[in-house]
Amino acid sequence: MTSSQDPARAHDSANFKVCIVGASGKLGQYMVGHALDRGYEVVGVCREASVGKLDAFTGRITVVAGATDDREVIKRAVAGCDAVLTVLVPRGVHGYSSGTAQAVLDHAEPRARLVFSCGWHITLDGQDRYSWKLKALVRIAGPIAKLARFADIDDQVEACRRIFASDTRWTVVRGSDLEEGPSQGLPVWSRHAGDPILRSNMTRRVDFARFMVEAITNDELVHQAPAIVGSQTLSALAHAGASPTAPRQ
Ligand SMILES: NC(=O)c1ccc[n+]([C@@H]2O[C@H](COP(=O)([O-])OP(=O)(O)OC[C@H]3O[C@@H](n4cnc5c(N)ncnc54)[C@H](OP(=O)(O)O)[C@@H]3O)[C@@H](O)[C@H]2O)c1
Repeated sequence: MTSSQDPARAHDSANFKVCIVGASGKLGQYMVGHALDRGYEVVGVCREASVGKLDAFTGRITVVAGATDDREVIKRAVAGCDAVLTVLVPRGVHGYSSGTAQAVLDHAEPRARLVFSCGWHITLDGQDRYSWKLKALVRIAGPIAKLARFADIDDQVEACRRIFASDTRWTVVRGSDLEEGPSQGLPVWSRHAGDPILRSNMTRRVDFARFMVEAITNDELVHQAPAIVGSQTLSALAHAGASPTAPRQ
């Protein structure tokens, strides 16, 4: 019996199995590292062509190769997993995000913790307030990317609509702009884009990944779509009432 079937074992990391869908990407690789650090057993799903990107984890994780919207691939990968962390990517114009989300929703263990990644542009309750820059990105760059058949933001919106409507134990983590660099600690979050704490709009990717992994054991985040920002950004520090030690805009 896995922890998802036995709530009493929900935080027993030695027997906790996590599937990471989209493990070979930048966010995915950080999540694999964090999950291993916590002593979790890890199953990573990535495209056949990307398996080599996970070489650093050889012998420490199980890799399931295949498209993340392939229902059979997902069914195999999530079997027996206590949690599934999914990188939602709006790549292509054939429903990659919604197909991936649907496969996870349909095949994950009934009590498994499901955590999905996306950006601030996704809204749970329509109460987010967006900058002109983000609005322009979605309204102008979105259709151009779709026309070029490169990406379909609408499909990521559809994926999240299905997640929000599901009765699974989901969390949708909404990332700000991202940057590389050493960890600055667990990001802070708010319910709505536009809230002052988020104004700095920057998170280290390694910390985004950490938030995703820590969400597994944070029941406060079930059925929430936290919008995150780096804990050392000016807006986060201002909210905490602290003086910034490493100011950034
Ligand atoms: N980039 C940002 O500024 C930003 C901002 C806010 C939120 N986010 C969110 O953060 C998450 C990670 O995004 P990221 O930008 O940091 O990228 P990332 O972690 O590198 O992930 C990109 C993912 O897309 C996959 N991918 C690439 N090309 C593909 C293709 N042609 N077909 C199918 N899959 C393909 C990659 O798989 P392979 O390894 O197989 O290539 C990888 O799993 C996403 O959920 C995104 O919405 C990103």
